[in-house]
Amino acid sequence: MLNGPNLNLLGQREPDVYGSTTLKDLENGLLANAPTGMHLEFYQSNHEGAMIDRIHQLMDQPVDGIVINPGAWTHTSVAIRDALSAVTAPFVEVHISNVHSREAFRHHSYFSDIALAVIAGCGMQGYTFALETLNQHLKG
Ligand code: DQA
Repeated sequence: MLNGPNLNLLGQREPDVYGSTTLKDLENGLLANAPTGMHLEFYQSNHEGAMIDRIHQLMDQPVDGIVINPGAWTHTSVAIRDALSAVTAPFVEVHISNVHSREAFRHHSYFSDIALAVIAGCGMQGYTFALETLNQHLKG
């Protein structure tokens, strides 16, 4: 599970938009309730190059699937899109807020057309839905 810039501030950052749950609480909740047999690893970065390097590691240490909230990179980063394209694992794009009901610059995503699924506006539950979606997909 990959979280992009400013998502380390969950719980403190614009709580009216992103809620009061911290990233740690989110991760612990997901670990406790992950679908049976699913092993989770978490990574968050505020640095685009570091996120790209982390995604590249998945070429040598493959995973079955990725859940990513690219944060503001959603709307700007061809480089992270290209990194995800290089890795064959399917990914689910998650946004805590409904990006389509916000500013126009949040309506475009560099990820959605190559994502397995896109979840927006479901709050933190979106991450749980993303794991369930990946699980269903992987089970075929
Ligand atoms: C976000 C939406 C983005 O537009 C924003 O830049 C974020 C978080 C979300 O989870 O709703 O940082 O991806």
